[in-house]
Amino acid sequence: MTNNLQILLTEKEKISFSEYMDIILFDKDIGFYESEELFGEKGHFVTSPLVSKHFSHSIGKHFIKLSVFENIIEVGAGDGSLAADLLIFLRSLDKLPKKYYFVERSKRLIKKQKSIIKKNSLENYLDIYWVSDYMELPDTAFVISNELFDCFPTDIIKFKSNKYKKAYINNEYKIMWEDFSFDSENTAKNLNLPNNLPDNYIFEYSKQQNMFVSDISKVIKKACFLIFDYGYSAKELYLKDRMQGTVTCIRNHQSDFNPLVDIGLKDISAFVNYTFLKNIFENNGWITEAFMNQSNYLLSFDILDDVDIHNVDEMNGIKKLIMPNHMGEVFKVLIVKKNIPETGENLFIKNDIIKL
Ligand SMILES: C[S@@+](CC[C@H](N)C(=O)[O-])C[C@H]1O[C@@H](n2cnc3c(N)ncnc32)[C@H](O)[C@@H]1O
Repeated sequence: MTNNLQILLTEKEKISFSEYMDIILFDKDIGFYESEELFGEKGHFVTSPLVSKHFSHSIGKHFIKLSVFENIIEVGAGDGSLAADLLIFLRSLDKLPKKYYFVERSKRLIKKQKSIIKKNSLENYLDIYWVSDYMELPDTAFVISNELFDCFPTDIIKFKSNKYKKAYINNEYKIMWEDFSFDSENTAKNLNLPNNLPDNYIFEYSKQQNMFVSDISKVIKKACFLIFDYGYSAKELYLKDRMQGTVTCIRNHQSDFNPLVDIGLKDISAFVNYTFLKNIFENNGWITEAFMNQSNYLLSFDILDDVDIHNVDEMNGIKKLIMPNHMGEVFKVLIVKKNIPETGENLFIKNDIIKL
């Protein structure tokens, strides 16, 4: 049977890499995010909330410290582990929000999220919603995303002979490069590309990241938004070592760099350019509060305090989250806020905002 990718390629003969990535990750029939067993040891990859519940607990301590929000919104909640661990933790301290909103693109993952909420009877303690239209979101909230921005469909751009070229996939699943210019000078500025990009340098540009931030910002008026992901500031991202760009595929915990094979059977993502995210959030009325690696965030919110040091698995989980050679360094968090009064209190043990 012909699938939507084949139909589109037959109709258009070529599609941009972002169109391609959109279909192979999110299409209802062949999309990777609609397949079974994505997360955890038995799936394809493990994310921080699955490594240890203490990741979610630290976020809970941050939420409690701010003590201004009655709503939590989580965008791209995967199998719902973060939400469940966070809400169980907040319930144990009698600090639950009134409402929890999930924004999720994958139908299969919405089912998983509903099932983990039900399994823990969390709907008995607060109102929980799944929202597809941003207009149904509250205008005030504590907003969380983990590994959301790395899977936004992205275009692949090559800098060649002082011009930009954009990657298209043709109907033989080969890459073709065509002349490209950014839709505005501002977009190029937001990426903060270095002036001396080497010839043939490949990098990513995700218009969908920009659209998401712009759309959600129209609704959310007072908020603190935590963006956890793997990536770098522009200065640290565009190195000569990354001449081929950062698009990476993961299948059964193994990575490879060819997104044109095993369609729908593996994840595709790209490093997040945190300088770009900072710029697009600020263009949409947000103020950047902090940027740091995951380790510094988790230590700022006392991840070590509640750990059972006699539990080897628990200790290994914490190590994985905070050690620089695991997830502690390459994973970062950007914290942006809107209309939150300054308290003058420094919440973080280290803030690398200057790197952005
Ligand atoms: C890599 S997974 C991370 C899942 C989870 N946050 C975790 O850390 O385990 C990305 C998640 O974002 C969701 N997603 C991707 N694009 C989205 C969008 N535009 N709106 C809402 N959810 C999205 C995916 O379906 C998936 O749940």
